[in-house]
Amino acid sequence: MIRGIIFDLDGVLVSTDEMHYQAWKRLARELGITGFAREDNRRQRGVSRMASLEIVLEKSDRIYTEAEKAALAERKNNYYLELLEDMDDSAVLAGVKEVLRELKERGLLLAVGSASKNAPVILEKTGLLPYLDKVSCGLDTTKSKPDPEVFLIAAKKLSLPPEECLVVEDSAAGIEAAAAGNMKSLGVGPFYEALGADYAAADLKGVACWDSILR
Ligand code: BG6
Ligand code: MG
Repeated sequence: MIRGIIFDLDGVLVSTDEMHYQAWKRLARELGITGFAREDNRRQRGVSRMASLEIVLEKSDRIYTEAEKAALAERKNNYYLELLEDMDDSAVLAGVKEVLRELKERGLLLAVGSASKNAPVILEKTGLLPYLDKVSCGLDTTKSKPDPEVFLIAAKKLSLPPEECLVVEDSAAGIEAAAAGNMKSLGVGPFYEALGADYAAADLKGVACWDSILR
């Protein structure tokens, strides 16, 4: 029986995925990388900032040192933070707050399990914090999805065994991480049919029957 739900943040609760893409695109342009496109950005979903940078640099002929890479990741993050500046609750995806409230009323424990180190800022700006019991994010982890670390930390913070948690994800790396952590998964977002999740829906408000997922 499922007693806790661990939600990915970017692309599941909030529409930050486009902002990540625009910030990476700006960096790629400045580095003279012309081929960075939405197909590459799809692989950046769910994975850490440094792993995302490697996907951008695949298109570059230049070899960067670790120190240069750290500076590039920071530069991208500054562009991303500029885009987050005016963020408010309008960035919360349609129906999310209602669904979180309903799941809470059913007695479920709710957590975020996100690769993002910006998760606390985003949760604060969007007013999502009061809907959640715990947050596990990029500030807690050393390994990137598809490693299950971020979800296992979330389960631990909820004081639940992994098999009693459901993971909600929009990325292939996240669905893989859920399975590696012995958790059932619900795939949502633009690629929900192709993620290989245990359950799938276009978005959270489109879940037809929570009862069958949670039993
Ligand atoms: C994930 C995003 O949630 O967070 C990735 O899907 C992103 O695209 C990752 O790279 C890390 O985010 P941040 O905010 O720490 O750079
Ligand atoms: Mg995501």
